[in-house]
This record gives sequence, C-alpha cells and structure tokens, in this order.
Amino acid sequence: GKVAVMFGGKSAEREVSLRSGNAVLQSLLSQGIDAHRFDPAEQPLTDLLSQQFSRVLIMLHGRGGEDGSLQGALQQLNLPYTGSGVLGSALCMDKIRSKQIWQSLGLPTAQYEIADKSSFDAGSCEAIMAKLGNEVMVKPAQEGSSIGMTRVNNTQQLETAIQDAFEYDDHVLIEQFIQGSEFTVSLLNGQALPSIRMSTPRFFYDYTAKYQADTTEYFCPSGLSSELEAQLAQLALDAFAALDGSGWGRIDFMQDKAGQFYLLEANTVPGMTEKSLVPMAAKQAGLSFSDLSLAVLATSMQ
Ligand code: DAL
Ligand code: MG
Repeated sequence: GKVAVMFGGKSAEREVSLRSGNAVLQSLLSQGIDAHRFDPAEQPLTDLLSQQFSRVLIMLHGRGGEDGSLQGALQQLNLPYTGSGVLGSALCMDKIRSKQIWQSLGLPTAQYEIADKSSFDAGSCEAIMAKLGNEVMVKPAQEGSSIGMTRVNNTQQLETAIQDAFEYDDHVLIEQFIQGSEFTVSLLNGQALPSIRMSTPRFFYDYTAKYQADTTEYFCPSGLSSELEAQLAQLALDAFAALDGSGWGRIDFMQDKAGQFYLLEANTVPGMTEKSLVPMAAKQAGLSFSDLSLAVLATSMQ
C-alpha cells in the first residue's frame, strides 16, 4: 500500500526532521516503495484518509510528532504507524518523567532537580548547585537535539539557563553533569545495535556538534569491552521497556570516570540524517541505510 513518510512539522527540530525525512523517503523510493512526503505542518491529517494512505512512517522529531499526540490521532484514524505507541512516546519525550520512572526501578540516572515556570524561585539556584555538585546540565523537559540546553558551573549562569529553558518548556530539568564519556545505544526490534561513543571539543555535545561541526568524533565500535558492551545494551533495552518504548529508538548515556553508566534520555524517533547515530550503528551491524529504512517501516506492521 501507499506509505506516508511524515516529516517537517512545527517543532523546534523541524530542520532536523526535514533532513531525516528526506533521507528516508529517498531510500524507500529507490527501493520501489510507494512512499510520499507528508508534512503535517502543511496539510491536515485527514488527508491521510482522502489520499488513501495505508500506513505512516513517522520521521517527525519533537513535540507534535514524537510525543504521543500524533500516535493517538493515527490510532483514531486506524492507520498503522512506526515506532512507539501513545504512552511510550509521551514518556520518552519527557526527560523528567523518564528519570522518575528509571529511578523508581533502580536504573541508573544522574541526580536532578526540577524547576517549574509557575513557581520558580531564583533564590533556590545556590542550593541546587551545591546539591548537584556545582556542574549541571539545564534541559527543557520536552525538547530534542539539545535545543534549549545549557551546561552550567555557577549560580548566576544557572538562573539564566533556567530562564532560557523556560522559553521552550514550562518544566525544566537540572541534572548533575557527569564528567566522562558520552555513549548511545540504538534499538531495533528488541535488539541493541553496537554502541557509539561521541566526543566533541565543544563545551558539550550540542546542536552544532550534532549537525554542523566536523570536529565531532564518533567511535563505533565504541571501544567498550564485550562485557561492558553487553551491560550497556541490556541497560538500554531495560530503560526503553520501562518507558513502554517499542519498535525502534535510541538511548543516550554518560559514563563517569569510574566506568559507571548513567541514563540520560530515550528517543522514539531518533535522527536519520547523514550525521545521525542510528544509521551509523546499523552500518556497524551490517545494515545499510536502505535496510534500516525498511526495518523502521516494518515496525508499523506488528
Ligand atoms: N532528537 C534527535 C533527532 C535525535 O535524537 O537524534
Ligand atoms: Mg533526545
């Protein structure tokens, strides 16, 4: 049947989605699939029915595409879609809820505090810094691609960073900064793909490091021992299952200098751009971009 590849959208990650979506659309077209671009920022979802699409490949990042609302709408339209369902999408989109669930299950994640726009008191910044160890990441609860994020190491910066993050979300996560290395594990159909280690000379792995800089280094295989690789893979699978993620996704981690891993967040529609991580991990596992695009599409058929 006819496949709608949904990308674009209205979130802050629109540009990333355009890159991911175009890459996947071209790949499906080159494999003879009856695939079409569908941008929900430009047309109503009811066009999916009038244009007789039979399934949807979701390549929208961020709110309105990755947060469960689209998944609920497609369910109401009886259209199969790729990736996680309503609950998994909504939980993975929210970094605060994700951490609360992981913590309650004993899965490792860094210490944090929460700031709510309606009740935020700048006077609390000093105590937050002291409690979290004087170096923190400030993150809007529901964003992607590091948008709205700041790495902070003093009280004045913390207040500014929280105010900046409130531009994106009424709920802000202030997370202990883990000194060490950053890893990611891609998940496909209940299996973990090889981990990747990312390294940037920038202050952190921010939007520029992710999509623009040519100074970001990627290591895949990541250099972990087979024992630690297996441990990280299992942690990724457990973390995704805890949030009701399914189909495909990507779990991001920090590893401290003692070797301990910490869960950062889960992505239910990870990037598929030419610089993105899931295609890199798939390649290391012997799956081409075409194979991966087909495998993602197939998650809509379960
Ligand atoms: N949020 C971006 C697209 C990612 O996780 O790759
Ligand atoms: Mg993310």
